[in-house]
Amino acid sequence: MNRNEAVAFVREKAEKETTVRHLISVEGVMRRLARRFGEDEDTWGLTGLFHDLDQDQTHEDPERHAHLAAEWLREAGVDDGIVNGVLAHAHERYRTDRMSQAVVHADAVAGLLVAAALVRPEKANGMKVSSVRKKLKDKAFAPGVSRGEITEVEDRLGLALEEFLALGIEGLQSVAAEIDLAP
Ligand SMILES: [Fe+2]
Repeated sequence: MNRNEAVAFVREKAEKETTVRHLISVEGVMRRLARRFGEDEDTWGLTGLFHDLDQDQTHEDPERHAHLAAEWLREAGVDDGIVNGVLAHAHERYRTDRMSQAVVHADAVAGLLVAAALVRPEKANGMKVSSVRKKLKDKAFAPGVSRGEITEVEDRLGLALEEFLALGIEGLQSVAAEIDLAP
């Protein structure tokens, strides 16, 4: 599946525009992380793009979440590695390699970064690591975002928090125009 087909698939399955925005933001972060690690950007990007594909259908059933998406993706002929990464973001037993671990952290940091961009007039433009760090410490800001899943990136991926936040910002900026987060 190429990127245009993948975005069309997301738009077909996602019922809410906020879900589409979230998926594309995590895609952007995953692409940037793939480049940092010398991994395949398209594979990592698709994993981010698809990770919450069934969010609007399964949000009340956490056990089924990601499994429905996995069924759809297998039917569509998407690679096993991507399907595994999608399952991994919600179910720990699938976190078997770097990509399936990275999606957990990309998911969390993208949530924080999008929330931060939405309260800035310049949106994602000119966003600084220092201001994101403040939002990270402010537990009242975007309380649904797991702080642990952001800070654990040091142990799990061997990336310093500062660098991870900088990469996350760049990843978000790379897709910002597509999700109305460019000024
Ligand atoms: Fe997510």
